[in-house]
Amino acid sequence: MIRKRTSIFISGRGSNMSALIEAARRPDFPAEIVLALSNRPDAAGLATAKNYGVATAAVDHKIYAGREEFERSLQILLDIHRIELICLAGFKRILSPSFVERWRGRMINIHPSLLPEFRGLDTHRRALEAGAKIHGCTVHFVEPELDAGPIIVQQAVPVLAEDTPESLAARVLEKEHEIYPQALALVASGRAKFERARQDRRMTFPQQF
Ligand code: GRF
Repeated sequence: MIRKRTSIFISGRGSNMSALIEAARRPDFPAEIVLALSNRPDAAGLATAKNYGVATAAVDHKIYAGREEFERSLQILLDIHRIELICLAGFKRILSPSFVERWRGRMINIHPSLLPEFRGLDTHRRALEAGAKIHGCTVHFVEPELDAGPIIVQQAVPVLAEDTPESLAARVLEKEHEIYPQALALVASGRAKFERARQDRRMTFPQQF
């Protein structure tokens, strides 16, 4: 089996990254995690990746004149490691439309809400304030518009009366760790594909899915 060479982009603790690395340790998993890349040199997840024996790189966005220069460095690293797929996992930089276009269909993201509900930040507090009865997480293909690409997998969780943003976040995070590996497996194996239709873009799944 050919395993897709995958890079995970992080900015922080990297718990989703760990879930992906763990899943990809199985020899029958269709992706191989070959590079953890952070825009923050102090991201805790970099040490975690090293402990797993995954190559790491920090590309500090602050030392670059602009987004284009920063992304040029990212792209060089992706080329060196012959990366075929990118998983954004708590990566806190907006990527330019040209970078997104280049990786379209080959870059996925996890978002802590049931998209299209609660795009953007602070999703758990906003869900509680809105009185949502269910909340959850989504893995989707990345499009230039923020948190807007075609959805690959979603998982809902109940919102409980006594929930705080923290307790709700913890319940959602458990599900994030389940669905991100599932979504990566679907994309890496070609079972979920980003397709451009004539008028719109959509994703296809095989009949039985
Ligand atoms: C997760 O909640 C993810 O959905 C969001 O940022 C958080 C990252 O957590 N995009 P971690 O770094 O994977 O632990």
